[in-house]
Amino acid sequence: MEKKTFYITTPIYYPSGKPHIGHSYTTVASDAIARYKRMQGYDVMFLTGTDEHGQKIELKAAEEGVTPKEYVDRIVAMFQDTWKLLNISNDKFIRTTDGYHEKAVQKIFRALYDRGEIYKGKYEGWYCTPCESFWTETQLVDGKCPDCGREVKRASEEAYFFRLSNYGDRLLRLYEENPEFIQPESRKNEMISFIKQGLEDLCVSRTSFTWGIPVDFDPKHVVYVWVDALSNYITAQGYGSEDDSDYRKYWPADIHFVGKEIVRFHTIIWPAMLMALELPLPKRVYGHGWLLFGDGTKMSKSKGNVVDPNILCARYGVDAIRYFLLREIPFGADGLFTNEALINRINSDLANDLGNLLSRTTAMVEKYFGGVIPAEREAAALDEELIAMGSTLREKCDRFMNAFQFSNALTEIWRFIARTNKYIDETMPWALAKDESRKARLAAVMYNLCEALRIVSVLIAPFMPQTAPKIQAQLGLSKDDVTYESAGAWGKTPAGVTVSKGETLFPRIDVDKEIEELNAIIASPAPAAPETPKIEGLAQIGIEEFAKVELRIVEIKACEPIKKAKKLLKLTVDDGAGERTVVSGISKWYKPEDLIGHKVVCVANLKPAVLQGVESCGMLLAADTQEGEVKVLFADGFPTGAMLR
Ligand code: ME8
Ligand code: MG
Repeated sequence: MEKKTFYITTPIYYPSGKPHIGHSYTTVASDAIARYKRMQGYDVMFLTGTDEHGQKIELKAAEEGVTPKEYVDRIVAMFQDTWKLLNISNDKFIRTTDGYHEKAVQKIFRALYDRGEIYKGKYEGWYCTPCESFWTETQLVDGKCPDCGREVKRASEEAYFFRLSNYGDRLLRLYEENPEFIQPESRKNEMISFIKQGLEDLCVSRTSFTWGIPVDFDPKHVVYVWVDALSNYITAQGYGSEDDSDYRKYWPADIHFVGKEIVRFHTIIWPAMLMALELPLPKRVYGHGWLLFGDGTKMSKSKGNVVDPNILCARYGVDAIRYFLLREIPFGADGLFTNEALINRINSDLANDLGNLLSRTTAMVEKYFGGVIPAEREAAALDEELIAMGSTLREKCDRFMNAFQFSNALTEIWRFIARTNKYIDETMPWALAKDESRKARLAAVMYNLCEALRIVSVLIAPFMPQTAPKIQAQLGLSKDDVTYESAGAWGKTPAGVTVSKGETLFPRIDVDKEIEELNAIIASPAPAAPETPKIEGLAQIGIEEFAKVELRIVEIKACEPIKKAKKLLKLTVDDGAGERTVVSGISKWYKPEDLIGHKVVCVANLKPAVLQGVESCGMLLAADTQEGEVKVLFADGFPTGAMLR
């Protein structure tokens, strides 16, 4: 029989800065569902990726003096490394710069145009660059972007429009006929009132920048980044490509997980696009809450809080972070992420409740029975509550996981862990051990403790994929003993297995000392400007690799600002052999007259790149200061054209 499929997605993240714990939140939640469903026997497709086009990326790359593709390549690698570190089991990773995606998006755009769903018009309105969003006058809040509160600018351009205004009634009907489509409930009401205010046609192309997918039949336009991005959920499965078998197999998605700020895109624009293409709609969209960092804002990368998943995992272990993210805050709600809460959870739930239960149990089985529990076991009335609770735990978890209530599922598992710890106090194995005639009773108690831990280990595996097998190894269990099926019934630990006490799962953390150390990390100047990702130490290279870089002294002959890009200067330099043009993102720090006539160091064999329409052949060397400024490396007095070595 064909397995049932389950298709789950995260948003595709903007590679405009390195991943933080907020991105990790959605991705870890998706991973827990993907793992849970796989364990239940589903054929799972779990997709994540990066959303790499748009003006914001183009500007950031220009600021750093690299091409947009070079810029995103570096940051996308950081996302991929972080997901590896966090044990994310995604089946695919889509980049919107992947060729197959770009072609498929062009097809989608053209199909919408051919169907009359997209038409050419003129756009006038307010544009928020960081959000890539156009707003009407009435949508602005105090004249600023209603989403992020930043300055907007007046924009007018010839553009293509999608007939979103036609879809209001159909969307309302969709929500009504599919009460589960938008979750949680409160977000649905927001969307309903948004639609009832009247939908306007959506501007779906841009001419003000070039870093995007060109409209193939009108290439001075690039496709609006949200149309490009939302399409990923089908293009990743081959829609619009030669081989669309995965599309046919997995689409429609069972669930899109997104943060609450992008629910509107996923429950209005996306289904309307699919309706216009006459394609099936995703089954559900879940808009989870925000992790607030310390001072109650969504995004504060510095204020008294370490939110870099790499630092957190290195200090506490991956599974502790995964556990905390899904246990601390109910998925639909906003909640505060603090290092203190994290440490407290690790100590109380992981080190104490779970860790101690395992170490006490394995130590006792070793001490009383040399690691092997005798087959002769005497049950007692006292066992019944524990057994009943353990036998129904999986069913409860299933119910919570189906509703994406991670926190409730974990709370239920930890209630059972607490009950099991209480069982030790009630049965007092140390007293039973003193009485040879109670040996069979002691054996039953030990067996029940191992059984409880076995069931726990299976059910926490989707949340804590490294911890579960460690527990199972200490309990002497094999793969067959820890299947999903086996977690639904009591008594599946086979006779004769050897239990052995192993390493401590979660060492206790000294809270005061730890907070002090964390504060020192925060206070250190290392993570300076949060918006500019830093290269965090490069691998060593040999002299032959360095020799591939052609560094030359050049003289600046002319210099002018580039109108379209405030941060860029266009320089004409003499490299000894002739003149060339170099674009540099330093206009914030240098005026043309500070530069003309001076000599500087240039990477002379850098592949040419087009920045805001100007071809740049080379790069000037500069350094960041502690204050976040940029200083060019002047080389006055050196001979023009000289090669550095
Ligand atoms: O919006 N709390 O990308 P993005 C919880 N490219 N979740 C958070 C979070 C926080 N503080 N910060 C980020 C985009 N997230 C688009 C998406 S999809 C077709 C295109 C998570 O890099 C959350 O899932 O801004 C949020 O929706 C997403 O990261 C935003 O990532
Ligand atoms: Mg965002």
